[in-house]
Amino acid sequence: MNRAPHVVVHPDADVLAEATAARLLTRLVDLQSDHSPVHVVLTGGTVGIAVLRAVAASPVRGAVDWSDVHVWWGDERFLPDGDPDRNEVQAREALLDALGDALPADHVHAMPARTAQVPDTDAAARLYAAELARHAPADADLAVPSFDVLLLGMGPDGHVASLFPGHATLSVSDRTVVGEDDSPKPPPPRVSLTFPAIQAAAEVWVVAAGDGKADAVAAALRGAPSTEVPAAGAVGAVRTLWLLDVAAASHVAVDAGETRSEPGPARRQTEGPGSTWAEVDELVAPLLGDLTVPDSIASAATAAALPDIAVSAPQGRLLELLTRATGARRVLELGTLGGYSTWWLARGAGPEGVVVSLELSADHAAVARRSLDATDIGHRVQIEIGPATATLERMIHEGTEAFDLVFVDADKQSLARYLDLVVALSRPGTVIVVDNVVRGGAVLEADHPDARVQGTRQFLERVAQRADVEGTVIQTVGRKGYDGMAILVVR
Ligand SMILES: C[S@@+](CC[C@H](N)C(=O)[O-])C[C@H]1O[C@@H](n2cnc3c(N)ncnc32)[C@H](O)[C@@H]1O
Repeated sequence: MNRAPHVVVHPDADVLAEATAARLLTRLVDLQSDHSPVHVVLTGGTVGIAVLRAVAASPVRGAVDWSDVHVWWGDERFLPDGDPDRNEVQAREALLDALGDALPADHVHAMPARTAQVPDTDAAARLYAAELARHAPADADLAVPSFDVLLLGMGPDGHVASLFPGHATLSVSDRTVVGEDDSPKPPPPRVSLTFPAIQAAAEVWVVAAGDGKADAVAAALRGAPSTEVPAAGAVGAVRTLWLLDVAAASHVAVDAGETRSEPGPARRQTEGPGSTWAEVDELVAPLLGDLTVPDSIASAATAAALPDIAVSAPQGRLLELLTRATGARRVLELGTLGGYSTWWLARGAGPEGVVVSLELSADHAAVARRSLDATDIGHRVQIEIGPATATLERMIHEGTEAFDLVFVDADKQSLARYLDLVVALSRPGTVIVVDNVVRGGAVLEADHPDARVQGTRQFLERVAQRADVEGTVIQTVGRKGYDGMAILVVR
């Protein structure tokens, strides 16, 4: 069994829908050469319906024997029959009507609508559970059909199907279907598969587009508890696919055109929740010293809903040790976020050291200020709010004293320009550390559509061009995925 999430990133939401449709059609054809019937679980939502439209429009749709396919739903809005907000109604309009008689009517297993006979979500859940049980194999552990592919959308809060963060439905394990009467998304009454039913599917495909989803995608892939980010529990029995557009993937270290390598059956899973990389980060945690303070800074950032893009604890420790080993007293940081890396740098700089940290967002800076002031190093950190380029130009203009160590971790588009500016604020021997310069290997692609990848490529070229810096790039893996750090020294 391979439960490693496999992440595939497409350039935009349209390509994502088309590519998912093509993937689904190909998979159905493959499955039909192996067994019969095939069970597919559909999802609603913008991307889910766009996928169905793309299936309807594809000439490959004729390669599927639809008479052999059963269609199910992961969740439904509990509304009267024919209500246009029902996932079933939208799926009929997008695809099922177009299939006509090719898909037998009794293979379309819609969740019950609200009627006088089915007055509440619990009754609907019981009926759907019975329908699932009727199609379950005799020897099944759980009374559900052998779902081959289960599609799920995901909300910005990380909800999947109608399983919402913090709701009691998340822990239901004694049923396959559950009623939800208090959905934070209208309409409140819903019917949803439970986690055990979802996780019984051979393949679970989570499809998400847009930067509003980026935080939840990153949190789920990093193994957040499914009580907080339900999508973290969207795991297939054999395979889990995350099909994303660039915006939704923007907080994980994968980029358009990149797909995560899938471990073979005999290998340990390297990335994602509970993976080797994440576990090794845990294993080495005792080497890092007392993590109470940095953990509290990280928690404050999470509580303030800052994106989960700070360095990891082992990386923070590297910054501390580099700062201490080089005897750096004056440290410059680009990109404060919640002050997590700032704290490690200030620790490394010692009681006489100072850190000047540049941050575009006043909100991020305020969170960092609060967190750092709650520690014993707050008075040694100066946060400058505004675009880093303007702040650096002003500092150069003012003749600011040279820094001993610089950590560059702001926007990646401007990296080459940042290099020029921080070298101007350096002395011979200044160490410059630049994070995220490998980007899951996306830097290999010369025509990559992501401006961050292009910015990183330009930075690497600039380092090679400049005679006054020498350095290296170390590829990194860990809880944060696959990336890399440049470590440079000014000559
Ligand atoms: C990756 S986060 C920094 C993480 C932080 N160094 C840590 O590890 O804890 C990047 C930060 O850079 C900030 N940023 C983005 N563009 C910027 C710019 N043009 N100037 C200054 N800061 C910027 C973002 O607001 C964000 O807080």
